[in-house]
Amino acid sequence: LMADSLFIINNYAREYFTDTLFNKEEGQNVGLSYFEERGFTEETIKKFQLGYCLNTFDAFAKSALNKGYNLEYLQKTGLVTIRNDQPADNYRGRVIFPIHNQSGKILGFGARILVKSDRAPKYINSPENEIYVKSRVLYGTYFARHAIDKLNECLLVEGYTDVISLHQAGVENVVASSGTSLTQDQLRLIKKYTNNLTILYDGDSAGVKAALRGLDMAIEEGLNVKLVLLPDKEDPDSYVQKIGAEAFREFIKDNKQDFVLFKLQLSMQEAGTDSNKKSQLVNEIAETISKIDKAEDFTRQQDYIRQCSQLLHIDEQGLIQLVNKFIR
Ligand code: CTP
Ligand code: MN
Ligand code: MN
Ligand code: MN
Ligand code: MN
Repeated sequence: LMADSLFIINNYAREYFTDTLFNKEEGQNVGLSYFEERGFTEETIKKFQLGYCLNTFDAFAKSALNKGYNLEYLQKTGLVTIRNDQPADNYRGRVIFPIHNQSGKILGFGARILVKSDRAPKYINSPENEIYVKSRVLYGTYFARHAIDKLNECLLVEGYTDVISLHQAGVENVVASSGTSLTQDQLRLIKKYTNNLTILYDGDSAGVKAALRGLDMAIEEGLNVKLVLLPDKEDPDSYVQKIGAEAFREFIKDNKQDFVLFKLQLSMQEAGTDSNKKSQLVNEIAETISKIDKAEDFTRQQDYIRQCSQLLHIDEQGLIQLVNKFIR
């Protein structure tokens, strides 16, 4: 089967890239020291099966073809491309983040450039194929499953390195959307493990907007959504490396807020005294509240109605009626 072949190739590549990282001179000097400079321990690097792809034209491609792997399949995985009519390594000179499925098999890779450049993207990710469908993947589920189950909560971050640094800091119930805005399939995946989602995005307006885009969808999926805003310019990785594991865990605890109430307060600030804007935001918040499945969680919807009407200084019955309009 095609899917099996792709898994086999990805596994071969993963072994090849970790071997390069630990046992080849360039791997150690360039790849391993990059990870070490970022504060990743050897244990962490091994756990996440991080690797390095040599900065050569085709060292990996040659080795895989010698092993007998099919060129067409190698291209499908994105590991090999054709350059000047020759099979060439697509991730050359980059550090490698394998992307595991829930049972630990490798769906694809993220490959990061070492030095930021205007000419090349920071990450190259596997192309979509029979096994890697970006909208259905959450990075880190394989490593987070048990912790999510145990804590009955899933933290959501943006990037590979956020997941990895948080694990190293002892926060293991964390997965990443890998930069895309959240999809329904990703939310369903989370819902399989827990009803409680906490989004950790950076506190600048792009981070807030990205988080807001996922909110209504998450509520529709029946998730209870909380939000932690990090200081501007920080992501979970940079921030935990800066302030340390214990302070970071405290920070999450102290700054976790209900996302629906956060959204309301944000819109109230934006609306100010403009009465048109205010009635628009009342509508918007009523629509959000209407998406909470009453059958599943009646008291939660009532709680929101009570709290929101208080914050807005409006009549509770009026808000109930508005919410019901959206349900019909
Ligand atoms: N991403 C991507 N392609 C890019 C930039 C980002 O696929 N050119 C995805 C990656 O999954 C990345 C995530 O979006 O992990 C978040 O992007 P960003 O915050 O820019 O990267 P970081 O994860 O913070 O990576 P680093 O700390 O290594 O810069
Ligand atoms: Mn879901
Ligand atoms: Mn940002
Ligand atoms: Mn980062
Ligand atoms: Mn980031």
